Amino acid sequence: MKKGKMITVKVNKGGIGKTTISTWLAHGLAELGYKTLLLTSDSQNNILDITFKEEQKPLYSSGLKNWVTKGNGDIINIRKNLNFIPLENSIFSNNFLKKLPLFLEKLKEDYDFIINDSIPTIKLDKEFVNSSDKLIIPAFCDRSTVEGILNVIDEAGIDKIFAILVNKYENTETQKKYYKQLKEVLDNTNIIFPNPIPNKSQISKLIDQGKTIWESKSQQVQDIQDTLTTILYELIHGGK
Ligand SMILES: Nc1ncnc2c1ncn2[C@@H]1O[C@H](COP(=O)(O)OP(=O)(O)O)[C@@H](O)[C@H]1O
Ligand SMILES: [Mg+2]
Repeated sequence: MKKGKMITVKVNKGGIGKTTISTWLAHGLAELGYKTLLLTSDSQNNILDITFKEEQKPLYSSGLKNWVTKGNGDIINIRKNLNFIPLENSIFSNNFLKKLPLFLEKLKEDYDFIINDSIPTIKLDKEFVNSSDKLIIPAFCDRSTVEGILNVIDEAGIDKIFAILVNKYENTETQKKYYKQLKEVLDNTNIIFPNPIPNKSQISKLIDQGKTIWESKSQQVQDIQDTLTTILYELIHGGK
């Protein structure tokens, strides 16, 4: 029986890369041979848009809600070692919320890692965060995001924050300033703070083609692979 680690990728703001980073991390773990499950609290299920070409996107009729309340549902195989349970909609019954924690505990017996792509739909988010071992926070280097990060640290407690990963980084004066600020704050903590992931049209193109960073050989993408590998290594071996 496994006792998988559950990681939630969370920040209280859209468009920073929660879905993208969740998928990259999960696929990275799967490529290394770990049985990995992606979950989401976003009923748009964008994970499927970024892992399949439009015409190959799998269909589903039920997902997490059905699994939790009825014990069955769709589970989509995205890649080797990588599964995904979609979310049907954002209406959550008390019965569902009550049963969710036990369902997540049971899932940990089947998977080495569960990576959860979140949106702050408060009720569900709370359960996901409670069940998670650690949180990874994607960040954008501007004032409101830095404030958002401080909020998450406040809400979840600093010990639960595993890594903060700057995404869509551009080498501007403002972003450099906020990167430096973050780095100074995080230097005195156990939180992993890898190199920023640049904002690149090449990356949006890759995502649009339904490919992850582990499916590209370009040098720029390899730099991002290295950054992600820092996090993967600690997830696999670290006690942080
Ligand atoms: N490093 C990057 N460079 C360029 N585009 C990116 C990068 N990271 C994410 N994107 C794009 O930004 C958009 C938002 O990313 P997404 O992961 O959906 O954010 P969230 O889940 O936080 O709302 C998507 O269209 C995605 O393709
Ligand atoms: Mg998203």
